[in-house]
Amino acid sequence: MKITKAMTAAALTLCLCACSSREIHVSPDIQLEASVIPYPQQFDLHKGALYLDNSLIVLSKDFEDRTLAVTRDFANQLSECTSSQVEVKTFCCIPCKGASLTIAYDDELPDEAYEIKVDESGATVKSSSHNGVLYALATLRQMLPPAIYSSEASDAEFAIPFCEIQDSPAYSYRGVMLDCARHFFPVENVKRLLDAMAAYKLNRFHWHLTDDQGWRIESKKYPKLTEVGSMRSGTMVGRDWNSDDHIPHGGYYTQEQLREVVDYAWKLGITIVPEIDLPGHMVAALASYPELGCTGGPYEVLKVWGISDQVLCAGKDETYRFLDEVLCEVADIFPGELFHIGGDECPKVEWEKCPHCQAKIAELGLVDKDGVSAEQYLQNYVTHHVQKTLASKGKRIIGWDEITEGELDKGVAVMFWRGWLPVEKTLGKYTADGYDVIMTPTSYFYIDYLQSEDMDSEPVGFQSVLTIDKMYSFDLTKGLSPEQLSHIKGVQANLWAEYVSTWEHAEYMLFPRLFALSCIAWDGDERPDFESFMGEVKSHQFPVLDNWGYNYRNR
Ligand code: ACM
Ligand code: ZN
Repeated sequence: MKITKAMTAAALTLCLCACSSREIHVSPDIQLEASVIPYPQQFDLHKGALYLDNSLIVLSKDFEDRTLAVTRDFANQLSECTSSQVEVKTFCCIPCKGASLTIAYDDELPDEAYEIKVDESGATVKSSSHNGVLYALATLRQMLPPAIYSSEASDAEFAIPFCEIQDSPAYSYRGVMLDCARHFFPVENVKRLLDAMAAYKLNRFHWHLTDDQGWRIESKKYPKLTEVGSMRSGTMVGRDWNSDDHIPHGGYYTQEQLREVVDYAWKLGITIVPEIDLPGHMVAALASYPELGCTGGPYEVLKVWGISDQVLCAGKDETYRFLDEVLCEVADIFPGELFHIGGDECPKVEWEKCPHCQAKIAELGLVDKDGVSAEQYLQNYVTHHVQKTLASKGKRIIGWDEITEGELDKGVAVMFWRGWLPVEKTLGKYTADGYDVIMTPTSYFYIDYLQSEDMDSEPVGFQSVLTIDKMYSFDLTKGLSPEQLSHIKGVQANLWAEYVSTWEHAEYMLFPRLFALSCIAWDGDERPDFESFMGEVKSHQFPVLDNWGYNYRNR
């Protein structure tokens, strides 16, 4: 269709008519302070403030429906807090007069980047992506009084300072892993985590959905996975491996619930990376289908933590059929590109004795070679098999770094977790070999570790310590060449849940360390010193958590 001048004029008139007449309310002489975490790349704060109560927000029609939805959420929060009407309109050609906040599409800006300018004429956000707008709104929220997070009417002045911000992330993968296998957390809890992640500009949710102690995904083809595998008859108490509370624990997500969480995360700019941990950490599946193990069982969903020798049999055809069918079912639920196949902590004691596994080793001609056992090469074969299956669904696999032992196809991504191993043998080697790496070493990113050297002052947990200052001191660049660094796609904190049985405890483990994660992930190595960071966390982010109702470690 040819656009004529008359049509443009008509569109302009429509556009303008669609706008209600509103006033832009500013105070040029006020000096507001502001603290935003993660730190914006460029942040110039000026004298003067713009009030957002009773305001009009306009959003370019070039953005997606989900962007309009998050903009409306922002406006609704403002309306509730200010007991006024904050309106949202879309515009197609030129922004409306009277808008206090204009969200404009700028295709020159990189994915997830955004710019904000606030002055006498109002606030303008520019971005080329949903996530960019989402993060601009997150930044604006942090410049408003913390009451914005409570959604209750407040007497505070809902003004943002005049400023100029240019911002974009250091890493494209900024993740949190939640273990819902050791303890089951309902959908509402998972959504709470997603809300907080989006507010602090994190964009990957790694969902650990299966393990020895519970299988948490409904499968239509293998219903016993949840009928049997989602429930254990008891749990060890504290750190006593000989104890059993005899209280059944379990739960699982229906496929409908999983899709609901996928949609929820999508709106929040978060991609879910589902994990089916294989071929180890599979006892819950073996309890459901004992024929998939080397010995045939009997098996019981585990009640204690640790590493089990009971793993999937890698010699039986039915194991590969099982994996193909379950992985395809799960792959259909999660639209993201990455699929986590676990691969960690797979003892080979059963494979060494199993006639099926040994026959497979012989059939494949696998032998001990270069210090790697034939059984490890058999695990490589399993990894390669599921890699091909998932590739047929458009997925790229990622696994814990044990998958690099032996042979591994290029194109697979590696999650580096064994923080106690020398860097040159692990991270240095993976990146030199050309694998993309997500950094989640125990020593900096395991947030199931206790938060204080004074372990007795903390809730019972894994007997290691990760203080927030240790986490914040993480420096990626040490000893790696620029080429190697280019393979590091991001960082992730892992919340394993052996000792975390309530959601309140989960939040305690998450906060405030999630702020350190967010700064590492978004700001890279350009961060203010720890004292300034912690000062801002205490003065600005703790009130946010108070208003939002999250539990946290407040020392
Ligand atoms: C792991 O912590 N076993 C990946
Ligand atoms: Zn076997």
